[in-house]
Amino acid sequence: MLGLPAGRTPVETYTEIRRLHAAGEADFSQATAFLLDEFVGLDSSHAGSFRRFLTEHLLSGINLDPNQTYSLNGVAAELDLECERYEETIAATGGLDLLLLGIGVNGHIGFNEPGDTLAARTHRVALLEATRKDNAGPFGGDPSRVPHAALSIGMGTILRAETIVLLATGERKASAVAGMLRGPVTTTLPASFLQLHRRVEVYLDRAAAAAL
Ligand code: GLP
Repeated sequence: MLGLPAGRTPVETYTEIRRLHAAGEADFSQATAFLLDEFVGLDSSHAGSFRRFLTEHLLSGINLDPNQTYSLNGVAAELDLECERYEETIAATGGLDLLLLGIGVNGHIGFNEPGDTLAARTHRVALLEATRKDNAGPFGGDPSRVPHAALSIGMGTILRAETIVLLATGERKASAVAGMLRGPVTTTLPASFLQLHRRVEVYLDRAAAAAL
């Protein structure tokens, strides 16, 4: 059971996984995967959709069964129901064994945005301006075209994963990385909750580690 993120950070990792699969060194025939989040209002054909992103960068090059690859439906008629269904499916398949994460510049993981509170379960999120700006790439670079809302697995869903691997690169992530590893555990920096998890591996380049 894998949990997989979108974003620029894991692109090279996904390329390497595809290479390993092509070389006969990685087999996903028995694996099940869950995407962490999705924009509200986009179906999987939209250039900004995380499902499409993952299909292009990973699924198209490995033997993970599309029927065993779950993602949140951002165009579901009943979004709350969609979130409930997703949470139940993750639980029914035994929970996440390996969860790969990136981190937002503001310390979000999945789309769990900083705030006064955090949601434990899969839920609907109002995206912050900074996040919409940061995700503008597939929307022609125009933040106003980025949806205002998303669906995301929750902090409890994340913290119940057996093993978490977080990747961060570039100086833009340095402050969030320092807060995540050295700061207090706080809802204003959701990734700081990973300090409570017993098995987290963090992989950084020098720039992302610069504020440690
Ligand atoms: C996005 C996604 C996250 C991702 C993060 C960083 O908004 N919801 O899953 O880890 O922000 O993205 P990037 O890797 O492009 O910097």
